[in-house]
Amino acid sequence: MKLEDLTRKGILKIPPYLPGKPIEEVEKEFGKKRWVKLASNENLLGPSPEAVKAIKKELPKIYLYPESPCTLLKQSLAQKFSLSEESIVISNGADNLILMIVCAFVNEGEEVIIADPTFPVYSNATQIMGGKTVRVRLKNYTHDLERMEKKVTRKTKLIFICNPNNPTGTIVSKKALDPFLSNLPSRAIVILDEAYREFVDDPDFPDGIDYVKEGRQVIVLRTFSKVYGLAGLRIGYALGTKELIHCLNQVRDPFPVHRLAQVGAIAALSDERHAKRSVQMVQEGRRYLSSELEKMGLNCVPSQANFLFVDFKEDIENLFQNLLREGIIIRPGKIWGYPTCGRVTIGRMEDNKRFIRALRKILRR
Ligand SMILES: Cc1ncc(COP(=O)(O)O)c(C=O)c1O
Repeated sequence: MKLEDLTRKGILKIPPYLPGKPIEEVEKEFGKKRWVKLASNENLLGPSPEAVKAIKKELPKIYLYPESPCTLLKQSLAQKFSLSEESIVISNGADNLILMIVCAFVNEGEEVIIADPTFPVYSNATQIMGGKTVRVRLKNYTHDLERMEKKVTRKTKLIFICNPNNPTGTIVSKKALDPFLSNLPSRAIVILDEAYREFVDDPDFPDGIDYVKEGRQVIVLRTFSKVYGLAGLRIGYALGTKELIHCLNQVRDPFPVHRLAQVGAIAALSDERHAKRSVQMVQEGRRYLSSELEKMGLNCVPSQANFLFVDFKEDIENLFQNLLREGIIIRPGKIWGYPTCGRVTIGRMEDNKRFIRALRKILRR
């Protein structure tokens, strides 16, 4: 029996997800050194100390199953956003919520519109469920809503808008999003992936939660992996009308969020000082890196996220290897169709400076 005949149609054709190179992997090749990983948009300030404390306290209880709906965290989120608990679903990372969304709404052959390039999990999840991904090339590194609207057909079920977009860091403004949402047919659901929203300082950025409160057919995705520094715990949430959230609960695992993640997230959410410091670190680092890169004659896309998309004007694979030799891991842009570009996570000022020093040395600028 051929594997193709055993599996769901198409799943063997899904391109493997290529994550930023983990430190454990580069150490095998280059040995132990003081690595700076600027490849996966993690929070280089680390986790909230309050989260670490809460996790240590919870450790002896890990022999017990977690509380499935994450009631306490849901209550904290409901209070923070002035939403009802029925408008919130929590799972093991926004990644898992994306799969749940596609699983709940997309039948075989139905269409999912995404930008190109954008976060690849949208298309992978669509392919798993037998849906058809419709890609719309970015315009000036930003979602082209006009063309996305033109791609809507009777078969369109979901439209993913990654705001700010990964890997370019650009945003869709409220002025552009409002009419786009109003013009869509009622059978299309818009997913606003706001994984990086806390780092935005542009006043034109739309808050997805306002659309949820207006009862629009929108699901907002958020995560504890970025500003809260809990990427290793795997926890994120979705917000929407209670009807849409009910559909997601129908396909939710029985215990997707473990005990440590639940208590860690509750503690991180109330540690406003750590979140504020993280945002400040990113916004300062963003200004510093953009200006240093500009001094070197390099262009980066104006970013509202905790990373920069940079045109290094060099073969990116070469530069990536040279940076590894200097102990720095970035994300080469070939996978997104940009052979001279790379995505660089904004770290602590010392990390940013080290990156700039290494880059100057390699590029001799
Ligand atoms: C746009 C976007 N959405 C979702 C995620 C996944 O978040 P999580 O770590 O909560 O699965 C990422 C992770 O990098 C991302 O960039």
